[in-house]
Amino acid sequence: MDFKSFIRDVPNFPKEGVIFKDITLLLQNPEMLKQTAEALAQLLNDQKIDKVVGMESRGFIFGPILASKLNAGFVPIRKPGKLPYTTLSETYDLEYGTDTLEIHIDSITKGDRVLIHDDVLATGGTASAACKLVEKLGGTIVQCNFLIELSFLEGVSKIADYQVKSLLTY
Ligand code: PRP
Ligand code: MG
Repeated sequence: MDFKSFIRDVPNFPKEGVIFKDITLLLQNPEMLKQTAEALAQLLNDQKIDKVVGMESRGFIFGPILASKLNAGFVPIRKPGKLPYTTLSETYDLEYGTDTLEIHIDSITKGDRVLIHDDVLATGGTASAACKLVEKLGGTIVQCNFLIELSFLEGVSKIADYQVKSLLTY
């Protein structure tokens, strides 16, 4: 399946010098949407999953579809102040400044087998923070999977302790 032909490069978005990988053409095509979800699920190779954890906001697109396909629950990780119940937070470094992600404290049961999913692996900061949150709640990370890996940013090095799989690499 030629997934890459449905991914559009948008230069200088969201800022000058960045080439944005736009997946909206893939999402709006019924067959591609289905095939992409299927291919992401196949990256698991039949490993059992209890919870799929997706990061706001683009991890919320395929995360719940994947969870449903894998007969797992879906757990959102959100930006600060968005989750209503008691949360656990993780702050991580950006090029300039820091960012924080939050998860509900009762979202993972000790021993849960977890798939971390996001649309893009770039520097790995987001995925690494997500892994820390899940492990602090007692979850076991089975795999981190991504639709797109920007390999030149070497994000894999930040989540080297885990199985990392990406459908498409640039
Ligand atoms: C993008 C992307 C990943 C993250 C990857 O999200 O969806 O979540 O960046 O970058 P990293 O590997 O360097 O951490 P973004 O923060 O732009 O927000 P969005 O998903 O809400 O669009
Ligand atoms: Mg994101």
